[in-house]
Amino acid sequence: MGSILQCMDCGQQYPINQLIYTCDHCGGLLDVRHDLASVKHTINRELFDARLGSNPSKTPYHSGVWRYKELVYPDLDEKLIVTRPEGNTNLYRFSSLQNWVGSECLYLKHEGENPTGSFKDRGMTGGVTQARSLGMKQIACASTGNTSAALASYAAQAGLRGIVFFQNSNVAIGKLAQAVAYGAMCVRVDADFDRNLELVRELSIELGIYVLNSINPFRLEGQKTIMFETIQQLDWNVPDWIVVPGGNLGNSSSFGKALCELFEVGLIDKLPRLAVIQAAGASPLYRAYQNGFEHFESMKAHTVASAIKIGNPVNYAKAVRALRDTNGVVEMVTDQEIMDAKAMIDASGIGCEPASACSLAGTRKLIAAGIIHPSETVVGILTGHVLKDPDAVVNYHSNTMEDVVANHPNLLHDVGDDVQQIRTLLKSNLA
Ligand code: F0G
Repeated sequence: MGSILQCMDCGQQYPINQLIYTCDHCGGLLDVRHDLASVKHTINRELFDARLGSNPSKTPYHSGVWRYKELVYPDLDEKLIVTRPEGNTNLYRFSSLQNWVGSECLYLKHEGENPTGSFKDRGMTGGVTQARSLGMKQIACASTGNTSAALASYAAQAGLRGIVFFQNSNVAIGKLAQAVAYGAMCVRVDADFDRNLELVRELSIELGIYVLNSINPFRLEGQKTIMFETIQQLDWNVPDWIVVPGGNLGNSSSFGKALCELFEVGLIDKLPRLAVIQAAGASPLYRAYQNGFEHFESMKAHTVASAIKIGNPVNYAKAVRALRDTNGVVEMVTDQEIMDAKAMIDASGIGCEPASACSLAGTRKLIAAGIIHPSETVVGILTGHVLKDPDAVVNYHSNTMEDVVANHPNLLHDVGDDVQQIRTLLKSNLA
C-alpha cells in the first residue's frame, strides 16, 4: 500500500492524487496517511543524520523537509519536488531568556530562518509539490501574510500562477511586500482572514485553482518536519514540552501528527507535551479548551499579532486531536505580554515577529502557573522573522501602540547636526 488520503472523522479513504480537501461523505478534515509499517524498515536515525549538512548535489535531501522524505511523501517522484531548500533552522539557548521565563532549559527553534522568513516554507514545499503532481497550473491562498509570501515564492520557482487573498488592513508590510515582489497576483479583499478563506475555497473549485491553505493536508506533511528536525537536533532526545503559537492551527495539528508518527516508527519512545498559545483576542481554541472541548465557538478576532488574527481556525478538530494525543494544554496571552516577550527575543539578537513571541510569553505564563516545571526541557517555536512586521517594532519602541505600553523600550534618539549635542548624548548613555 502506498500513501492515501483519509478522513479523520469517518475514516473514508481517497486516492492520494484525488483533488479533494475535505471528506465528500461527512465534511471532515483529511489526513495524508503513509504506509508506516513498510516505511519503518527503510529508515533509522543514522539515515537522517547522514543526510545532515549534505550539499546541493544531494538535492532534495539537503532540505530540512525532504531529508525526511520517507515520512513526508515516500512514493513521490523526486523530480516533482519544488524546494528552495527549506528548514535547517537553528535551535537557540540563551540564559537571559531562560531567566526571564524561569526555565532551566529553554530552546527556541527559529523557523523565521526559512527562505521566505517563516515556517510556512516547510508546508509550501509539500503543497506546491503536490500541485505539480496533480498538474495544477494555478495556486491560491487566503493569508494573514506569511502563507502568501511563501506561496508567491514557490509559485515563481515552480512556474505556476500564484494568487493571494489578503485582508485589506492589518497585513504586516514585510509580508505584503514579499508577495508583490515575487510576482503573485495580490487581491486585497474588504474582509477578515476567516471570510477570505471561505472566498478562496468557493472560487477555487469554480476556477480550477489549487488551494494551499493549511486545510490542504500536504502542507501539514511538510510542517511535520519542524518536530523531526527539532528532535534530531537534540540528538533524538525528546523534550518535555513543545510550545507553539496557534492561529489557523495547522502547525499544532502537524506537530501532533509528526510526534505520533515518530513514535509509531520507533524513532522516539515517548511524546513531548504540546502547549498551544493563542492571543487573548483571537483565542477560540483556548475558550474551547476551558470547557473540555465540549463546545467550539468562533469569534471576531483582534490582536496586535496580525499573523494569528484568526477567529475560526480551520484545523480546530486536528488541533484537538493533537492536544489529546500529547496530553497538551492551551494558554492565552495578552497583546502586552506578546509585545514584551517579543522585545526580549529581539534584544537577545535573534528577533521574531509578534505572533512568534507567544511561545516565550506562553512558556513564562505556564511556568508561573506551575504547569511547566522549571527543570523540564522546553522547545519554543519562533514562527516568523523580525523583519516581517517592522511597524510593530518601531511602534512598540516609540511607545505609540494603542493598547500596549513599551515596558522594554529601546528609545530612538533624535538630534540635530551638532557634534556637541551628539557628544553629550553619547557620553550620558555610555557612562
Ligand atoms: N506564527 C506566524 C508567524 C504565522 O504566520 C502563523 C500563521 C502562525 C504563527 C499560526 O500558525 O495557523 O498554523 O496555527 N499564519 C497564517 C498565514 C495563517 O496566513 O500566514 P497556524
